[in-house]
Amino acid sequence: MADIASLGDLRGKRVLVRSDLNVPLDGTTITDDGRIRASVPTLRQLSEAGARVIVCAHLGRPKGAPEEKYSLRPVVGRLSELLGRDVVFATDTVGESARAAVDGMADGDVVLLENLRFNAGETAKSDDDRAEFADALAGLADAFVSDGFGVVHRKQASVYDVATRLPSAMGGLVHDEVEVLKRLTESPERPYAVVLGGAKVADKLAVIDNLMGTADRLLIGGGMLFTFLAAQGHEIGTSLFDADSVDACKGYLERAEREGVEIVLPVDVVVGREFSADTEVDTVAADAIPADTMGLDIGPESARLYAEKLADARTVFWNGPMGAFEMEPFAAGTKAVAQALVDATEGGALTVVGGGDSAAAVRQLGFSDDQFGHISTGGGASLEYLEGKELPGIAILTKEH
Ligand code: 3PG
Ligand code: MG
Repeated sequence: MADIASLGDLRGKRVLVRSDLNVPLDGTTITDDGRIRASVPTLRQLSEAGARVIVCAHLGRPKGAPEEKYSLRPVVGRLSELLGRDVVFATDTVGESARAAVDGMADGDVVLLENLRFNAGETAKSDDDRAEFADALAGLADAFVSDGFGVVHRKQASVYDVATRLPSAMGGLVHDEVEVLKRLTESPERPYAVVLGGAKVADKLAVIDNLMGTADRLLIGGGMLFTFLAAQGHEIGTSLFDADSVDACKGYLERAEREGVEIVLPVDVVVGREFSADTEVDTVAADAIPADTMGLDIGPESARLYAEKLADARTVFWNGPMGAFEMEPFAAGTKAVAQALVDATEGGALTVVGGGDSAAAVRQLGFSDDQFGHISTGGGASLEYLEGKELPGIAILTKEH
């Protein structure tokens, strides 16, 4: 696959880079800068090679028009700091400000364009509706580098269409992420354990389906676990529940039995009366959740069980928190799983934390990146890769245009 070297001498060339700078914000304060840090090496490489680096990215999900709370402006300062050079901010994406900023660039300069998704053409469903915006973006540059791993599963103008309009290459971040995911899908060292959490079971059905064929153990946590408990016929109180996914969960439990894949569910659950940090908290058996309570974390017995199931694993992939970890009373399960991954890493296992949210969670709980084998910047993207789906942003880089 074409890498940056394939673009030839970059001195004086305008290079459009798609990065994923979609960081969590509290107002205008960045609460986790992992994705900015991950984007820096490629930007620095291009700048040092003398390119005029035009960075484009999205933040949140604005609906095709400017909205102040989704502005990328809060990112500029941190990006400049980490790059060690000033980044010029354009207050639009392909308008007057962007064109003026690009016209004013010297070799090695870096410009950040305003949120791509302030333009309806970025995320439009049909190729035709994305074309005009893709033309305008491509018109700013001489070459394109795709480095936003977190968005390579999106068929969007800045991810897909620009690559058909400019000489294009894969950036080092996307390259490295794909190399790690390949190790999970092509003959992983066994036992291979996957921990899946998060709220929505429907989002995880396709990946569970695919992992049944490759993983040895599937550990289930987060809001999605209650639909599994319901599929086993248990009372789940007022816990998160997805009626449409019960049959699928039942099917997976049966298939796991038949095919010798272990699906591990919690034996105990931390419950509260409501979704709040100061609700009355109790720990109950997973098959005895009181009708007027909701499960908000896996319990301490389960945390021990999950740690045990990870202790001898040689390969571990983890996506999604085990409970409502943002609230102290429901953080222990996620912490225990993070610690189990750290221990497995120390023991020589390949451990991968998948996803912007999961990555932010482990950092928020006090862990650091180097305690894990790899922290992916893409949640949806890494899950879709593990589902075996073709990722449009990667496929387009390998096609002839
Ligand atoms: C993410 O945060 O998952 C990526 O930045 C992609 O964003 P999206 O899910 O809004 O396309
Ligand atoms: Mg997402």
